[in-house]
Formats: sequence, C-alpha cells, structure tokens
Amino acid sequence: MSAPASPLDRAVNLADLADLAARAIEPTAWDYYRSGAWDETTLARSEAAWRELEIHFRGMVDVSKRSGTTDLFGRSVPCPLVAAPTAMQRMAHPDGECATARACSAAGLPMCLSSLSTTSLEEVRAATTAPLWMQIYLSQDRGFTRSLVERADAAGIEAFAVTADTPVWGIRERDMRNGFRVPDGLRIVNLERPGGPTGHSGVGIGGALSWTIDATLTWRDVEQLVSWTGKPILVKGLCRPDDCHAAVESGARGVWISNHGGRQLDGAPATADVLASCAAAVRGRATVVVDGGIRRGTDILRAVALGADAAAVGRPILWGLGAGGEAGVSRALAMLRGEFELAMALAGVRGVDDIRALGTDLVRRRG
Ligand SMILES: Cc1cc2nc3c(=O)[nH]c(=O)nc-3n(C[C@H](O)[C@H](O)[C@H](O)COP(=O)(O)O)c2cc1C
Repeated sequence: MSAPASPLDRAVNLADLADLAARAIEPTAWDYYRSGAWDETTLARSEAAWRELEIHFRGMVDVSKRSGTTDLFGRSVPCPLVAAPTAMQRMAHPDGECATARACSAAGLPMCLSSLSTTSLEEVRAATTAPLWMQIYLSQDRGFTRSLVERADAAGIEAFAVTADTPVWGIRERDMRNGFRVPDGLRIVNLERPGGPTGHSGVGIGGALSWTIDATLTWRDVEQLVSWTGKPILVKGLCRPDDCHAAVESGARGVWISNHGGRQLDGAPATADVLASCAAAVRGRATVVVDGGIRRGTDILRAVALGADAAAVGRPILWGLGAGGEAGVSRALAMLRGEFELAMALAGVRGVDDIRALGTDLVRRRG
C-alpha cells in the first residue's frame, strides 16, 4: 500500500498552500506576511486587477512544442518568474531564505534576497546556482550601504534592486495591534553594523531598523548606487512612466513595477493597471519586472503581454515556505510554471516571444 499523500502533495494551487501556511506559521508572523497598509485597498485590488484582463486566445495554432524560456540580464531562465524579496523568511520556516534559494536553484529561477533577510547573503549565495539578486534599502548610513553592496558584489550577487517606495515605513495596522516585533533569536544579519546591537528590541520593524531607510532619497542616490557596482541595478517600487524613465536616465538597467504588495501607500494603483504604460516608457532600454497579486500562470502570461520581462511573487513564496520549507517553495514555483505553460498552450502561443508579439491584442481590458 502506498503512503497517503501529504497535505503538501494534495495542494493543487497557491491558495491551498496559503491555507496550509496559515495553520503552520505563528499568528503574528502570519499577520505580518499577509497584511497591507491601512485599509488594504491596494492589496485587495492588486489580485483582482489581473483577473479583469481577458486573454483573447488564438485557435488552431500548433502548440505541441512550447517553452517559457527567456533571458534576464544575460542568463537564460525556464520561465519569466522571479522570487520577490520578502523580509524575515525564517519566521515562515527554520530554513528560511536558504530553503527558498535551494528551491529556486532546482527550478533554475532567479531569487531576489531581501536586505531584511534572516540569513547572510553569503549563505544564500551558496545555496543556489540560479541567478541571485539582492534588494537594497539605501540607508541613512551610506557608507554602510556601500560596503554591503560591495560585499554582495564580491559574493556573486548578480543584480541589485533598490527599493524606491519606502522613504518611510507604511503602516500595517494588524502589526500595530499585535505589537509585532522581530522574534527573539532571529537576526537581520546583513544589516548589523560593526559594534552595533545584534538583537531587535524595538516594536515593529521600524524602531531598531529606522536607520536602514532614508526619507531624503532622490534619483541622485540611484546614480551613486550605480557607480558602486558594475552589476545591473533595478529600481523597485515604481508605478509611473515618468519615474521609469527617470530610473533609466539615472543608470538603472531595470524597472520593477510594484506597490510593495500593498504594504506602503494604500491607494496606490494595482500594478496590472499601470504596467503597460510603464513598460512602454522604457521599451528596449530596461528590463521590466512586475509584482503584486500574481497568483496564477495566467497572470504571468498577462504580465508578459503587457510588457514585463518577468513577473515576481512575494507572498506565494512565503506560503510555500510555511507549508513545507524547500519542498513547499518548489511546489509553489512548479504550480506557477506549470500553469504558465498550460496557459500558453490554451492561448495559442508557443513562447514568450509570441506573447510579446501579440501584446495587448492577446490581453485586453474587459469591454
Ligand atoms: C512579508 C513581506 C515582506 C516584504 N519585504 C520586502 C523587503 O524587505 N524589501 C522589498 O523591497 N520588498 C518587500 N516586500 C514586497 C515584495 O518584494 C513584493 O513587492 C510583493 O510582496 C509582491 O506582492 P505579492 O506578495 O502579492 O506577490 C515584502 C512583501 C511582503 C508580503
């Protein structure tokens, strides 16, 4: 008799993984992961906006051979999918960021490490042979940030995503009610300054880590960051074509259309609603990544049709981690990739180039 299938094996979609993770993760950490800012209107809209985009599939196309392979910063990846940076993954599973890295490695997909990670960037680098990017907050201590970038560069980080939507921390009211704080025993290791504290006694992420973000940031600071490393810089957290243009003018090689998973400015648009105009502003000049509410392979197809080179997922990685560590993240990535390949067949396209060529003829707003 074969062993009964595990709950992870029985999960058929990301929502099933979310249910498993909700039961496995400590409630205040779960609230930290799931919450959005203030009334969570942007959070709610982010998922819904993708679903409103209809896919005008083609019939009678030979789709027997198809591939999601694409190129991101000179590296071939099997699917236009990236693990977005999310803070403190060890709250979801003891193996945290290394489990995510190993799952991305097995899938050949890029991971972007959060600078608020609970594992050192060198350990994470050692856990994956797939592309590893790192998210950067330009801190008030620019010398510290510069040395972090140089350290990451030397360790083999392949691209940096500088976050533009966090001049100050957004307010997540669930965390306020819960008195959320970095759990004892976890360290935001990459942001520890020589001689500084190693614990995080402050309530919320704001207190002890307030120096790690900077309300004075301007495009000049992006230019400076570009001068610190030869690796590609993406600017993450943009929703306006003029800002995407400014990012490229500042030397960035990528723009990451994002509202931080609805966790910063509540009222910000859904990325599905601004992607096409943002991508058009930098077409041919920058790699375009988009995130926010991507939950199905059809959403990846929609994102590519609207001009993205890759779609990224934040919470789905945490759901996989909570549901089953590395195996859970592998499952989340496999679900998204499998659905994307199936969606391509059903839409009558054979690959990313076909989706791009059809563009907004393939994916259209209702009506
Ligand atoms: C729990 C959590 C932590 C996050 N931490 C970071 C972070 O440290 N740096 C960053 O730039 N974005 C961070 N983000 C935003 C994600 O990178 C990404 O933009 C967002 O999660 C995408 O939306 P999705 O969760 O709907 O996929 C975080 C998001 C979540 C949910």
